[in-house]
Amino acid sequence: MSTERPTQDELKALVGRAALAFVEKGSIVGVGTGSTVNCFIDVLGDMKQDIRGAVSSSVASTERLRAMGIEVFDCNDVDQLAVYIDGADEIDGHGCMIKGGGAALTREKIVAAQSTRFVCIADASKKVGVLGAFPLPVEVIPMATHRIVRQFAALRGDARLRLKDGAPLVTDNGQYILDVRGLKIRQPLAFESEVSQWPGVVTVGVFAHQRAHVCLLGTPAGVETLRFEPAELR
Ligand code: 5RP
Repeated sequence: MSTERPTQDELKALVGRAALAFVEKGSIVGVGTGSTVNCFIDVLGDMKQDIRGAVSSSVASTERLRAMGIEVFDCNDVDQLAVYIDGADEIDGHGCMIKGGGAALTREKIVAAQSTRFVCIADASKKVGVLGAFPLPVEVIPMATHRIVRQFAALRGDARLRLKDGAPLVTDNGQYILDVRGLKIRQPLAFESEVSQWPGVVTVGVFAHQRAHVCLLGTPAGVETLRFEPAELR
């Protein structure tokens, strides 16, 4: 890193490399999605002889892992994973996160649920007091889109369909993404439980049930390691 204030990309590279310390030799590693995780995948290639392979949370990460020569396993072919490494769009003081900026939230939550420890890697801009400044991604079944928009409006959330090249973005699972602005999520666990049961919601991008156990936060002073107690959440 240069002696000047590090860029966001340099901080991502820093925490991507720091995450290697959490990878157990001989294990299969859970791998998330996004630009920070890409930095992790790139250095994971250096220790590919030491691991059995990975379980991936997206088509994009699978392609990158395979390009590094790392074997990618199907979730259904492996048991519990020791560790899941992923980024976040926001993370609060309890390890609760908003995720899904890269539209991979459903598979990310699935792999996180199959992992004993979630290690979040993020640059310092992602750390917040209250979740919600980042528009909350929600993966939805297309036919339920308009009703779910109205359900968020009742919570004063402004939900908009995510577009790509002028058409609705279609996820790896063939569904749509709503991005919801204007929410302040003070009770992430209760919020996640509530929205998850709305008909047509595939996955809400609040990760409170699958919150991080550790966050490696990239700061200008270096990597700060945040460890979250299993505190009572609402
Ligand atoms: C993808 C995610 C990413 O982890 C999140 O968007 C952070 O991405 P980046 O590391 O590029 O900032 O949840 O669905």
